[in-house]
This record gives sequence, C-alpha cells and structure tokens, in this order.
Amino acid sequence: MKKLVAVLLIMMMLFSLTACAAEPKEDALPTIGVTIYKYDDNFMSFVRRAIQTAAEGKAVLEMNDSQNSQATQNDQVDTMISKGAKALAINLVDPQAAEAIIAKAKVADLPVVFFNKEPEATVLASYDKAWYVGTTSAESGIIQGELVTDMWNANPDWDRNGDGVMSYVLLKGEPGHPDAEARTKYVIETVVANGIEVEELELQTGMWDSVKGKELMDAWISKHGDSIEMVICNNDGMALGAIQSLNASGYFGADKFMPVVGVDAIPDALEEIKAGRMVGTVLNDAKNQGGATLDLALNVALGKDPLDGTSWKFDDNKAVRVPYVGVTIDNIEFAEDAYK
Ligand code: GAL
Repeated sequence: MKKLVAVLLIMMMLFSLTACAAEPKEDALPTIGVTIYKYDDNFMSFVRRAIQTAAEGKAVLEMNDSQNSQATQNDQVDTMISKGAKALAINLVDPQAAEAIIAKAKVADLPVVFFNKEPEATVLASYDKAWYVGTTSAESGIIQGELVTDMWNANPDWDRNGDGVMSYVLLKGEPGHPDAEARTKYVIETVVANGIEVEELELQTGMWDSVKGKELMDAWISKHGDSIEMVICNNDGMALGAIQSLNASGYFGADKFMPVVGVDAIPDALEEIKAGRMVGTVLNDAKNQGGATLDLALNVALGKDPLDGTSWKFDDNKAVRVPYVGVTIDNIEFAEDAYK
C-alpha cells in the first residue's frame, strides 16, 4: 500500500513538473514599460486595452497611470528603467516633456516609442532610438469639417434664425496638444473653405473631459439659448457631456434639436448617434494605434528593426500614422467593428 502511495506521489510530482514546463515562462518575455497620461480618459482606456491585448503571450507590460502629472510620469520612467524594462512606450502627459524622457532613455540606451501625444519632430529626430505612433492630427479636423459642411447643407432648418450663418460653440481639448490645436483650426477652416459663413459664439477648453464639457455647455445654453446652431467638439468625451447638458435643457425631444459632432467614435458616442442625439464623429482608431505601439515597442525591445514583420510604415519623421475615418449613422457598423 505504502509503495502504491509513493508511486502515485511521484507520478503527481512528475505531472505537475511537466505542466509547469508547458506553461509559457513570463520571465522569458521582454518587459515593456508603458505609461498612459491618465487612466481616467475615455479614448486612452481603449488604447490601453489594445496594447494589453496585443501584448498577450509576447511581452510583460509594466503599465503605469501617470495621473495627469508629468512629474509622476518622470518618476515612473526612472523606476521602469531601474527595474530592467527593455523598451519604453510613452503616452506623455505634457507633449513638451519628450526631451526629458529621451534624456533618461539615452542614458540607459533604451528605445522609446511615444504614442498619442506627438513630440516635436526635432526632439524625436534627436534620438535614433525614438519613434512615434499616432495620427495626422489635421486630418481629423478636416474630416470633421467635411461632415459638418455636408450635414449643414443637407439640413437647412439647422440654421434656426435663417440668417445663412452657422453660429457655433466649440469645445476644445487640452491646449497645446497637437490634436486639440489642429482639430480646432482645421474644422473651422474646412467649413469656411466650403463656403459656409460662420460665427463663433464660444470656444473654450473642456480638457477632453465629459464633466467639463457638460459644465461649459450648461453655461453656454443659459447665455446663448437657441442662438447656438452647432456644437463642435474636439473629442467624443466632451460631446457626451454636451449632450447630457442639452438633454437636460429639453433638446432632442419632439421639437428641439441640436447637431453635435465629436472625434474618436468611442462606443458611447456611437450609441448617441444611433439614438439620434449626435450627428457624427471621426474614428480615431484605438485598436490599430495600440497595436502598432506594441508591435514597435516589442520589436525594439528584442533588438529588431521597429517595423520588422509588420505592415506599418514610417513617414519622414519616424512616425506611424493611423488614418482617421468620418462616421455617421450611414457607416456606423464600420466604427463599431473598429472597437471590437
Ligand atoms: C486624442 C483623443 C482624445 C484624448 C487625447 C489624449 O487623440 O481624441 O479623446 O484621448 O487623445 O491625449
């Protein structure tokens, strides 16, 4: 009997040893240090998820919430370097801080992939082991401007006072952020270039944030009321806040409407488009931006060429730029698929 127990015990030990050997060894995977400027950002939560999904079985991620503080992010970078990260993937808090991060990476001879907040081209060029994954910011403003133009022309009743002028309010993202600056500039330039006369009733920053977007919209409705004919938002987060405010003021009922446009095409915004409370947005492809960030960071962590085995391409500034796509109710399935 004792012998049988001993044999069984040995068999169990052998089995658990082979089971261990079959599991992928985490230590064998390279560690990539990642920072997100703040977890509490609608769009970035989808980029973060895309990076995590792409890393499964390929890399160990040291993921950090920089809580909207560049000082915190700098400390996180120091810690990741001392813990032996093989590459850094950095979503800056302050787009101007790329130089400081590059200085740290240089000392440790570590490659760094910036994503979402674009560093100045000269700063990126100053380190041969630095690259960028993002978009062409201006493109989102131009596409949003084309959407606004087409819909304004197709809906003459949106010109509530019939003066032939589009009176708009604009919720801007973080000042100094390349996306916020370019979207604000190009959306209006495009609408005007398309022959629509415009009047700016308000333009203020809602810092990409729903709550701030709602607060500003509350104030603008009480100040301008029905004089507002178009609500242009640099992102969907702020558009969702504006819609909440408009809803509470009786819009979207039987006889009151307000066109609202955003950028990102996050799932909550797509729901608003389906419900008829938002007229359009611009897909900011979180899945591909997160995927490309991981692809590049993994390659360089393994000492390979950043684009090795991928279909991404660099522009002249060592940047991979994922295209934007305009979204209305007519092609909403396309945007829904992009977030699956
Ligand atoms: C933009 C996005 C915003 C916000 C921002 C953060 O590309 O449209 O919603 O996430 O990045 O840097």
